[in-house]
Amino acid sequence: MEFTFTQQNLEKIDQILKKYPTKKAALMPLLWLAQEQNGFISGEVMKSVASILEVSLEEVLGVVTFYTMYHQHEMGKYHFQVCTNVSCLLRGGYDIWNHVRSKLKIENGQVTSDKKFSLEEVECMGSCGSAPMMAVNEDYYENLSLDQVDQIIESFK
Ligand code: FES
Repeated sequence: MEFTFTQQNLEKIDQILKKYPTKKAALMPLLWLAQEQNGFISGEVMKSVASILEVSLEEVLGVVTFYTMYHQHEMGKYHFQVCTNVSCLLRGGYDIWNHVRSKLKIENGQVTSDKKFSLEEVECMGSCGSAPMMAVNEDYYENLSLDQVDQIIESFK
């Protein structure tokens, strides 16, 4: 489906571009803005961002596929990202991961049928000192126990 930024977001883009020395440097904030508007980064979104920033589609795709913060398909209202990288793994990251999977009854990359929850196993999210951790949307939950995971999930129901 064709994607165009809203007038309000076009004005935000003008402001964002003023902060960077080159258009290309604004790629990540523009993708974030596009994801906020569209819910995920579709091919049409990538084309629109590439056109505004005068970069190739491949450059946009490279950034979208590298960072787990960008989603290439629609995610749930509450998107769970559980880290299973080294520090988290050593402190029970896979116990957290398996617990979240079993509570939400979905697998990696899936969305619940009511579109409320989605789940993703991710690499280090830069919070190793407070492992194990997970993020729900933009909020980090750290030094997690299984009980805390239960409470967090309940709080979103
Ligand atoms: S290893 Fe999990 S946040 Fe770094």
